[in-house]
Amino acid sequence: MNTIQLRTSIPGPKSRAFAARRDAAVPRGLSHATPVYVARSQGAWLEDVDGNCFIDFAGGIGCLNAGHRNQRVISALESQLHEFLHTCAQVTPYENYIRLAERLNQLTPGNFPKKTLLVNTGAEAVENAVKIARAHTGRPGIIAFEDAFHGRTMMTLALTSKTHPYKAGFAPFPSDVYRIPYGYCYRCSYSLKYPSCDVYCARHLEDTFKRVVAAEDVAAVIAEPVLGEGGFVNPPPEFFSILMDICHKHGVLFIADEVQSGFGRTGKMFASEHYGVEPDLLVTAKSLGGGLPLAAITGRAEIMDAPGPGGLGGTFAGNPLSCAAANAVLDEFENGELLARANSLGQHFEQRAREWKQRFEVIGDARGLGAMRAIELVKSRETREPAPEETKKITQYCYEHGLITITAGSYGNVIRVLVPLVVTDQQMDEGLDVLEAALASVCEKGRPLEAVSK
Ligand SMILES: Cc1ncc(COP(=O)(O)O)c(C=O)c1O
Repeated sequence: MNTIQLRTSIPGPKSRAFAARRDAAVPRGLSHATPVYVARSQGAWLEDVDGNCFIDFAGGIGCLNAGHRNQRVISALESQLHEFLHTCAQVTPYENYIRLAERLNQLTPGNFPKKTLLVNTGAEAVENAVKIARAHTGRPGIIAFEDAFHGRTMMTLALTSKTHPYKAGFAPFPSDVYRIPYGYCYRCSYSLKYPSCDVYCARHLEDTFKRVVAAEDVAAVIAEPVLGEGGFVNPPPEFFSILMDICHKHGVLFIADEVQSGFGRTGKMFASEHYGVEPDLLVTAKSLGGGLPLAAITGRAEIMDAPGPGGLGGTFAGNPLSCAAANAVLDEFENGELLARANSLGQHFEQRAREWKQRFEVIGDARGLGAMRAIELVKSRETREPAPEETKKITQYCYEHGLITITAGSYGNVIRVLVPLVVTDQQMDEGLDVLEAALASVCEKGRPLEAVSK
């Protein structure tokens, strides 16, 4: 079984040479979490160009729930390669696009007629969800949340919350976007406590319609059922049903952005299912394509049909290779094993994180749903002051010891787990052991080193 093997110092000489070429050829705006260059991958494992082998807890930022080079995906791509590569779905359409749309209409929450539009990226899908919501309601406003991430295009940047590095310097953004606090209990914007708060953050939407923007000017509320880049925050169980009730009372649509939380990551096909809500529009991407670029907007048929012919589309949107890969990903989920695996991985992580929380004062919160897990790091549990420097040291330690991890959170103080769900028990434990050693490396007697040296 493929496990961690380090043959050179990290990064190795070949990676360092590529990095030097990259610095000259690629803008610095495209940052990278680790400077190791990949040679090959399989399952939950990567080998770099210097022959070093890593366990991958990042999965290409959540795109590989079905694993690197999933065999079903490879076979589907191989047969598609022998048929045709590109014709454009708007010129001469093809069946695997339709099949995928039918399956997504069936799989997404809600027993009502649905339709699906395919595009290339998560941001493009969010853009289209906004277009469709506006076309259907005839209203301009969109309400988004603090700590939300919806992409890097101009409209999605308007919806995204975090200023640095995403938004700063790129204004002006499109108008008619309003922001309200999310159900982030560990950092409640109202300094309340669940459940005595009665989920005030969700109920507050009614107030927003009085004090910020009139409901009849709002097309949709858009939310991630579990925050992705914002720190893997899962709101209280009632949060989304309260929000949706308020939305529907006012004819406002509810858009669920499941780009990161979809396709089994949370132990259910879609995180919305944990909350018992049926979004009017549901946006997916990342793991849908099994490693190929693909995204979808699935929603109530009458809403999806609001834009007229030619109002939606894109040259490569729903290209045949990505559709073949996505149909294979859905086949892979059919027997329920990946969902069961997501839940068992999540339980295992939760148990380890509980032990770490007793040992390492730097862990303020450990949370998540299914295999969408994270730890939030703080300088002091009392003040909850974020610990971004320690977080950076931990991810650096991890990658130097053969584990690829990425951070999240508006304060850059969350370590998230997006491990491919096909990871073996041995690989998972090896990865968690590295993470534990990394936590120990920044802590002494359970306290952050910085606090000790003061
Ligand atoms: C919740 C969410 N929405 C949208 C996006 C944007 O997706 P993409 O990077 O494919 O444009 C992301 C990307 O991380 C995401 O996590």
